Amino acid sequence: MEKMKTALTEMLGIDYPVIMAPMFLVSNAKMVIEACKAGITGAIPALNYRTDKEFRAGLDEIKAATDKPFGINLICNKSNIRMEEQLATCVEYRVGFILTSLGSPEKVIAACKPHGIKVFCDVIDLDYALKVEALGADALIAVNNQAGGHAGNISPKDLITLLTKNCKLPVISAGGVGNRKQLDEMMSRGACGVSVGSIFIASDEAPVTQDYKNACVSYGAKDIVMTTKLSGSRCTVINTDYVKEVGTEQNWLEKILNKNKHLKKWTKMITFYKGMKLLEKAAFTASYQTMWCAGPSIEFVSEIRPVKKIVEDLLKP
Ligand SMILES: Cc1cc2nc3c(=O)[nH]c(=O)nc-3n(C[C@H](O)[C@H](O)[C@H](O)COP(=O)(O)O)c2cc1C
Repeated sequence: MEKMKTALTEMLGIDYPVIMAPMFLVSNAKMVIEACKAGITGAIPALNYRTDKEFRAGLDEIKAATDKPFGINLICNKSNIRMEEQLATCVEYRVGFILTSLGSPEKVIAACKPHGIKVFCDVIDLDYALKVEALGADALIAVNNQAGGHAGNISPKDLITLLTKNCKLPVISAGGVGNRKQLDEMMSRGACGVSVGSIFIASDEAPVTQDYKNACVSYGAKDIVMTTKLSGSRCTVINTDYVKEVGTEQNWLEKILNKNKHLKKWTKMITFYKGMKLLEKAAFTASYQTMWCAGPSIEFVSEIRPVKKIVEDLLKP
C-alpha cells in the first residue's frame, strides 16, 4: 500500500494517518504493537493499568517489540487521582504522544513540551479547541457525533470544517470511520488523520470476551444508543436486551442528587465508579449484564480479525 504524507504522519513518522484510538478496557499492548507494525499508531488509556508497575510492564512490552511511536491517553479531570503518576511515567518512557481527554490538558502540555512529546487533545467544539490551542497543544482530536464512547454533538464534516477554518492546529477526526472511503472523506475536508476505535474491538488481540466481539459483528449502527447510566455523561452502548431492561437514563434519585450543589460531586463519582465496574464485568466475564460500549462504526465489522487485517482492510482503496 502506498504510504501517505500528512501533518500527522510527518509529526509521528508513521506510514498512514491513522491512530488506533484509546479504548477503556479494550486497548492493550498487543493491539498497539500490531498497529505500529502495520504502519499506523495506537494509543492505550493509562487507566487500563491498575498500578504503575503494570503500566510500566505494558510500556516495556511495546518498547521491546517496536521502536515506532505510540500514545497514551490520560484522563485529566479530578476523577483520575493517578494522573500525576501516569504523566510522570509517560515522560520517563518518552512515549510518542499523549492524547488528553476530559479536564484541562495544561499540566500535560507543560510536562511534555520540554521533551518533545506531542500532546493531542480531545475537543468537541470550537471553544475548547481554541483553549487547548492557546495552551500549546500539538493537534486537535475532533470527537464528533458518530464517535464511540463519549461522543460529541457535531457531525464529522461540520466539526472538521469548523476547526480547520478557525484554528491553526492540525485536526485529527475521531468518530464514524470504518473504511477507506470515509477516511478519504475526512481527509478531503481538511483532517490530517483519523482516530479509529470501535472497529478494533472485534480484534483477535483485544482482551475482551468473545461475546463482546461477536456483538460488534452481529449488531450494527442502528443498534447503538446513548446512555447516561455509565458515567453521567452521554456514552454509546450496544442496545442489548439488558440495556433495554435497565434503560438509558439515570433514575429519578440519581437525577436529583446530580442537581444538588453539595452532593453532585460525590454522586458523579459514585455513578462513574459503578458504571465502570459494570462495563468491566460485561467486557471480561460471561455476564447477563451486557453493557458493551461501542460506536455506530461497528456497522463495518463483519468478522473478528487480527489488528493487522483490520488496518489493511481500512486502508484498502
Ligand atoms: C469501547 C470504547 C472505549 C473508549 N474509551 C476511551 C477512553 O478511555 N478514553 C478516550 O479518550 N476515548 C475513549 N473512547 C473514544 C475513542 O478513543 C475514539 O474517540 C472513538 O472510538 C472514535 O470513534 P469510532 O469508535 O467511531 O472509531 C472509547 C471508545 C470506545 C468505543
